[in-house]
Amino acid sequence: MKRRIAILTGAGVSAESGISTFRDSNGLWENYKVEDVASIEGWYRNPELVLDFYNHRRSELAGVRPNGAHITIAGLEKNYDVTVITQNVDNLHERAGSGRIIHLHGELTKVRPENCCNENDGFSENSVFDIGYGPVHLGDLAPNGHQLRPHIVWFGEAVPKIGLAIDAVERADMMLIVGTSLQVYPAAGLYRYAGKDTKIYIIDPKDVPVHDPRITHIRDVATRGMEKFMEILDGSRI
Ligand code: APR
Repeated sequence: MKRRIAILTGAGVSAESGISTFRDSNGLWENYKVEDVASIEGWYRNPELVLDFYNHRRSELAGVRPNGAHITIAGLEKNYDVTVITQNVDNLHERAGSGRIIHLHGELTKVRPENCCNENDGFSENSVFDIGYGPVHLGDLAPNGHQLRPHIVWFGEAVPKIGLAIDAVERADMMLIVGTSLQVYPAAGLYRYAGKDTKIYIIDPKDVPVHDPRITHIRDVATRGMEKFMEILDGSRI
């Protein structure tokens, strides 16, 4: 039976692919106001601005590739039962070959009618579909006649997949956290569900805002940090 690893990733795992993080210097939130482009109120206030924001990020995604960290994470599946829980909306874990991925905050290449996938329909994803890297404009309607919107979890909206993520962390024999500032809940609180004896490794070049005896901080960027993590794995049985 393969040992289970739960891996929580954030924008830092995609930084070396050339995708901006949110809260580093010159990050996305220095150039856009979160409440304008990543909140449900912002969508109701100015849907065109929101669509342009995601159209820009979606077209940028077409031009970047998974980096060594995504590839090493995918390679772990050879010897471990891996669940990737990502806050990222990019598709780089998929393109690196990871098989089990929980997108807590949605997926950039997917859209849906704006009246679906919410509390009223039990967050059904039946009407979600992938548009690749192309744009969505105001007036682009779904088959049901409603405006298409990005399949993204905005601030002010529920995180429907958090239960799946908690289950994966509770069952894990080890947890790895790569490239997240751990500022946004519920994702940031996931590590608390790890078993009391479960080792937790955090890869981040900066200080992390959590202190827990189970945590070992690998202070490096994702690509080198993953190499160091692999040395730890090779040297010990988890
Ligand atoms: N390798 C590893 N980590 C890195 C790298 C790198 N090359 N570069 C930056 N980091 C780290 C930063 O030190 C920081 O801790 O990645 C983290 C990025 O933090 P944020 O920009 O806050 O991104 P994230 O934690 O993913 O944000 C969570 O906030 O705005 C919402 O929905 C959005 O999913 C996002 C959520």
